[in-house]
Amino acid sequence: MNIHIFQNQQELNEAGAGIITSLVQMQPKAVLGLATGGTPVGIYEELVKAYEKGRVSFKAVTTFNLDEYVGLPADHPESYHTYMKQHLFDHIDLPASQAHIPNGYAADPDAECQRYDQELEAAKQIDLQILGLGHNGHIGFNEPDDSLISSTHPVELKPETREANARFFSSIDEVPTHALTMGVGTILKAKTILLIVRGADKAEIVHRALTGPITTEIPATLLQTHPHLVVLLDAEAGRLFE
Ligand code: F6R
Repeated sequence: MNIHIFQNQQELNEAGAGIITSLVQMQPKAVLGLATGGTPVGIYEELVKAYEKGRVSFKAVTTFNLDEYVGLPADHPESYHTYMKQHLFDHIDLPASQAHIPNGYAADPDAECQRYDQELEAAKQIDLQILGLGHNGHIGFNEPDDSLISSTHPVELKPETREANARFFSSIDEVPTHALTMGVGTILKAKTILLIVRGADKAEIVHRALTGPITTEIPATLLQTHPHLVVLLDAEAGRLFE
């Protein structure tokens, strides 16, 4: 495990985008696993800048998002489809047909999860999986539980996850109660995992996740078993590692 702590957000964003850009420069057909939420926004901004400066092209890249809310149509302002378009896809040359996000509006969520896993299998392996971290230790929307699921599946969001994400909606009642998420098996199968964590409110959970006992009650502890884990922390989140 390779932990880097940054004194300011801009340095962290540039480092994160640099890792992704270098991979795509070396491997134009890279398969990227993407996250949403507040954490990767600044990194996506830097990726767009790199693309605009002609340093990188995403023409041959394939992407798979970690998750999507159940019950929001793709064009809902808070769907992860909309998020990805706003923050990344509308600003780079990634062909829409190569960008995969689970369809949270599918009539049959189980069938949709199977379809997503088939797409993942066809892509063989994610080269670089970007992850944020939930306050309760979730990765993707794999919430703490006494067992975890390996493949893509529907999940009921924990109250703390809905509370954390209420900042993007006009009220907590509008935050979906369920999501579709890539499973931990798929996440751990990625060649390299890039975990990004920011903020004092995540200092304790990221420390427990990376140094505490491995437990399904903190899904991110499973990342300790991954042979190529790169962790980018801001100074606040990295406080307990100093
Ligand atoms: C997002 C995702 C989640 C978030 C996590 C942190 O696609 O899978 O695991 O990464 O909830 O969210 P933020 O970055 O908003 O603090």
